[in-house]
Amino acid sequence: MAKQFVVQPGDVTQRVGVEVIRARGVDVEKLIRMLVANAAAEFASTYYYYTILRMNLAGHEDYKEICEDARLEDRAHWELIVPRIYELGGNLPNDLKEFHDMAGCRAAKLPDPPTAVNILTLLLESERCAIRSWSAVCDMTFGKDPRTYDLAARILNEEIEHEAWFIELLAHERDGKSIPSGHFRRGEPGWAPYSKNRGFYNP
Ligand SMILES: [Fe+2]
Ligand SMILES: [Fe+2]
Repeated sequence: MAKQFVVQPGDVTQRVGVEVIRARGVDVEKLIRMLVANAAAEFASTYYYYTILRMNLAGHEDYKEICEDARLEDRAHWELIVPRIYELGGNLPNDLKEFHDMAGCRAAKLPDPPTAVNILTLLLESERCAIRSWSAVCDMTFGKDPRTYDLAARILNEEIEHEAWFIELLAHERDGKSIPSGHFRRGEPGWAPYSKNRGFYNP
């Protein structure tokens, strides 16, 4: 018997790109919710709050520059993942405040007092939240939704590097200890070697 396709020819209300991953066991609605929460974290908690944190690292130009690399790469993560939400049939909330509050990571507000140690601690924990959130997307899509998996894995690569950067800086600043990250700063700010779709979303 011929295989029955769920999406009929000419039907624009359904997507084969969604049906094939649903057929493999992906809970697409849950995946969209996770991607929206992660996008909100990239946009609000990190991109916006990191700007404030970087501004307050005055006097530590080296820390400031690395914070800027992490900040701009989170912007690339936002650009990379948002189109996927729409491809899956989802959308961003039509209200910025609502969107902000959906973020899967805590807001990285300027600590009081805004010392380098306090700021680096916040940055480190923010990266750790991102690693957990993107790992959850990788786990959910591995072997089932290669496109979302690829995007999430590219973002995860950079979040893991960001954690290593801030472990190195915090250990140095707070404890006078050397815990190398294994990485130097990017070749240019916001390089995003894994997550940037050059020429498409980040000209
Ligand atoms: Fe990120
Ligand atoms: Fe990050």
